[in-house]
This record gives sequence, structure tokens and C-alpha cells, in this order.
Amino acid sequence: MSDIIEILHGVNLDTLGRRDPEIYGTLTLPELESKVAHFAADLGLRPSFAQTNHEGEYCELLHRAGETADGLILNAGAWTHYSYAIRDALEVAALPAIEVHISRVDDREEWRRRSVIEDICSGRVQGRGVDGYREALEQLKRVLER
Ligand code: DQA
Repeated sequence: MSDIIEILHGVNLDTLGRRDPEIYGTLTLPELESKVAHFAADLGLRPSFAQTNHEGEYCELLHRAGETADGLILNAGAWTHYSYAIRDALEVAALPAIEVHISRVDDREEWRRRSVIEDICSGRVQGRGVDGYREALEQLKRVLER
């Protein structure tokens, strides 16, 4: 059976398409997810998607993913930069995870350069728009094949 990859979008990512198109592009979240679903299918992976603006719910999605998925792709939005609750929940999930950012966070405001999940993720992709998710899926596939 192919691996199930849970792709979890966090706070404000439901506004893709109308949020700062110069930074985040013009795709809406459903459009982005549809592209990512195709990338996953090409790689023989089974994707599952969720988005929430509620931190506790994101933690619960991570807890549940630990039971149902084989790997994670996380774009936790601004939570990436400060949420120890999400970091702890990611440890509970105990799955290989890749951190993704649509924009190049290292070249933006100082506070975006910090990630509280980076060191417990197997990889990090930033600044590549939707194609970054393909790269993240490829990285995750390699980790799962090990
Ligand atoms: C983001 C970058 C974060 O700094 C920001 O808060 C987001 C989106 C990205 O995908 O580029 O909401 O994770």
C-alpha cells in the first residue's frame, strides 16, 4: 500500500489567492491542494489535506495524523515561528515531517527566520511556491524509503 501523507496548513493559509499575491502567488488553497494531490499521485503517495485557523485544532490534527498517516508536510504559517504547542504535538505524532513555506521566510522579516519545528523535521523547503510541495513530497518519500 502506498504511504499516506497528511498535508496540514495552518493559520491564514485559507486566504491564499487574496493574501499578498506578490509573496504567496495567486493560487487559492483548493487550487494549491489540487496541484499537490497530482504531485503526490505522480510519486505514488496518498495525500490527505486539512487546514485550520485554530492552534488547538492543528495540534489535534497532528495527534490524529500520528495514528492514520505515514508522513507529514507542514505549513503551519506564523505558528511555525513561535508555537511550542505545535512543536510538542509534532513530537506526539512521531512521524517524519517536512516543513514547507511558500515564501522565502529567511529573506523576510527577522521574526520569520526562526522556526520552532525545524530541528524536529527531516527537511525544510521555502520560497518555491507550489513547487516546494513537490520537493517536500520527494524528500519525504526518500525518508520513508530508508
Ligand atoms: C508562510 C510563511 C509564514 O511566515 C507566514 O506567517 C505564513 C505563510 C509561507 O508559506 O510562506 O502564514 O508559512
